Amino acid sequence: GNKNIQAKLVLLGDMGAGKTSLVLRFVKGQFHEYQESTIGAAFFTQVLSLNEATVKFDIWDTAGQERYHSLAPMYYRGAAAAVVVYDITSMDSFQRAKKWVLELQRQGNPKIVMFLVANKADLAEKRQVDSEEGEQYAKENGLSFLETSAKTAQNVNDLFYEIAKRVAKA
Ligand code: GTP
Repeated sequence: GNKNIQAKLVLLGDMGAGKTSLVLRFVKGQFHEYQESTIGAAFFTQVLSLNEATVKFDIWDTAGQERYHSLAPMYYRGAAAAVVVYDITSMDSFQRAKKWVLELQRQGNPKIVMFLVANKADLAEKRQVDSEEGEQYAKENGLSFLETSAKTAQNVNDLFYEIAKRVAKA
């Protein structure tokens, strides 16, 4: 029979990395050049139908600004999946992503499905973080890795499909 699964998914990452933009691309098929910075967190839902299951995502898009850091545990607690996002044009955002990975490893659900996402892949001419660097870090830490662009939609649906498949298997 077809399983119905409800899965809490959290996005974490530096301000401006593109968390909201990835979610809006996935949920609404939209992209805004002037996306406003998230305050606190924003909530979205989306349903994905796989052959083996229907996955309803409860998506928490957290605010990347440092002053909201202390709220994060409320959003990753009990999450089935976490997407840690950085911006390939910002080495700082990559360093911040590593801190989120550490925090999730120490304090998150030990069975969480974790993806490291290198966003803004369309801005290749401004790249500061090589693909290999992100991929290597992900590999060393047992994370899945994808390069995405919320702007061009590169790998965005794939990201959520991969997560749905992994959550459905768990
Ligand atoms: P906070 O809410 O502050 O944590 O930021 P965020 O991580 O949600 O980033 P947001 O989605 O608000 O995007 C920040 C800026 O980057 C916006 O101006 C977006 O239009 C832009 N942006 C997001 N994703 C991409 C992308 O893939 N490519 C390009 N070129 N710009 C992007």
